[in-house]
Amino acid sequence: MARSPRAVDVPLVLDDSPAPLRHRVADAVVGALRTGRLRPGDTLPSTRSLAAALGVSRGPVVAAYDELAAAGFLRSRAGSGAVVAPGADTAARAGAATHVPETGRVRPPSPEPVPAAPRLDLRPGRPDTSLLDRAAWRRAWRAVGDALPGNDAGEVPRHTHLRRVLADHLRRGRGVVVDPDDLFVVPGVGASLRALPEAFGLVGASVALEDPGYVEAWTAFAAEGVRTHPVPVDADGLDPALLPDGARAVYVTPSHQYPLGARMPVTRRVALLEWARDTGGLVLEDDYDGEFRYDVSPLPALRSLPGAEDHVVYVGTASKLLAPSLRVAWVAAPAHLRDALRVTLESRGLVVNEATGLALAELVTSGALAAHHARASRTYAARRGALVTAVAEHLPGATLEGVDAGLHVVLRLPDDVDDHEVADRCHAAGVAVSPLSAYAVRTSVRGLVLCYAGLPETAADDAVRRLARALAP
Ligand SMILES: Cc1ncc(COP(=O)(O)O)c(C=O)c1O
Repeated sequence: MARSPRAVDVPLVLDDSPAPLRHRVADAVVGALRTGRLRPGDTLPSTRSLAAALGVSRGPVVAAYDELAAAGFLRSRAGSGAVVAPGADTAARAGAATHVPETGRVRPPSPEPVPAAPRLDLRPGRPDTSLLDRAAWRRAWRAVGDALPGNDAGEVPRHTHLRRVLADHLRRGRGVVVDPDDLFVVPGVGASLRALPEAFGLVGASVALEDPGYVEAWTAFAAEGVRTHPVPVDADGLDPALLPDGARAVYVTPSHQYPLGARMPVTRRVALLEWARDTGGLVLEDDYDGEFRYDVSPLPALRSLPGAEDHVVYVGTASKLLAPSLRVAWVAAPAHLRDALRVTLESRGLVVNEATGLALAELVTSGALAAHHARASRTYAARRGALVTAVAEHLPGATLEGVDAGLHVVLRLPDDVDDHEVADRCHAAGVAVSPLSAYAVRTSVRGLVLCYAGLPETAADDAVRRLARALAP
């Protein structure tokens, strides 16, 4: 039976919350729908008569009707007032409302209990961003502000300028000659490693990784359905002779093996390239901190070897050189894999925003990045020296590995020591460090990974005294 067009006589009750009156009127109507006192097809009283019945002025009632209509609870019919829309009762019972409920004065959530911060943080992955020249940093971002951002939602930032600038930077600094068209700007090494298996047809295939090695690489490949094979590393890094049969790719950190710090000698680099040529395998070179080296002549990236451009995928990052929070890295792909990599990166949204790309390009072209690199290298060299001296003094007989390059060293511990427990003791003594065994898959290695990038020379002695105390039997 058709419902009467006459306005229904529903006694609406306003709650006494401190919410604005229009919300309380709308809530009362939704409440009546929820309980079935109002139903689809019902005509609501005129705003004037409802205002009179509720003893309020007409304005909030008009606003409430508008709110209810905008949310789809009511339909306005010219000449016959507001009518409850079909399905409005179901929506009300499902908990739909016309506005965000007032939460009153919200107490901020009590902060998570955090363990007492250690006085000194020597865990890897923390360059000293306070070494950045603030004026140069500001200038780079001001330069970004000179251009308005692009407005095409479907347009992926191409970073044409940055790729050209980076190609030059890689040629000068790492000996890597790459066509800017083969270079991709990506939001970090970790993220880009996840894209490589799909892009290069490695899903379900065998990929060899260094053991101990970069945990994020293991996780990324395993998550993408790659069969990962640990290859133990020695003082020269990964030995190509130990690559398993059938491996379709190998992930390596030849400049500064992560985390042990070995620099892969040229003989092994050449052997690795030969393996790639002979088997058609791919070498995935992670040059994460290749820019930092001390006391030794620079060893160019593996990708700089003649012929490597067809077999080596080179990955570099701004995370150590500048700041990990920027989330900028770059991938130089062999030309024949370029299109496949582009498709995968874009389909996964692994792109870097235009503004960050412009700022980085400005830092490179203005010379600010080179100046920062020189300043940071000098500082890190001095900090490394202070740490090595303090270890010699307070931990006589201890061996440090990986001191030639990068931003961290490894303090080896005997095989029967639980390095996680030692790391906990160090933490309790005020120094955060990483246990070496956390990076191992099958090999048995014990030790502490110590990043000195943020350890001022004046604090090295204190840090090592604390370590020595934690290491004492
Ligand atoms: C081996 C290795 N590769 C890459 C990175 C940097 O990764 P991202 O660019 O994702 O910060 C790190 C950082 O600690 C690393 O240790």
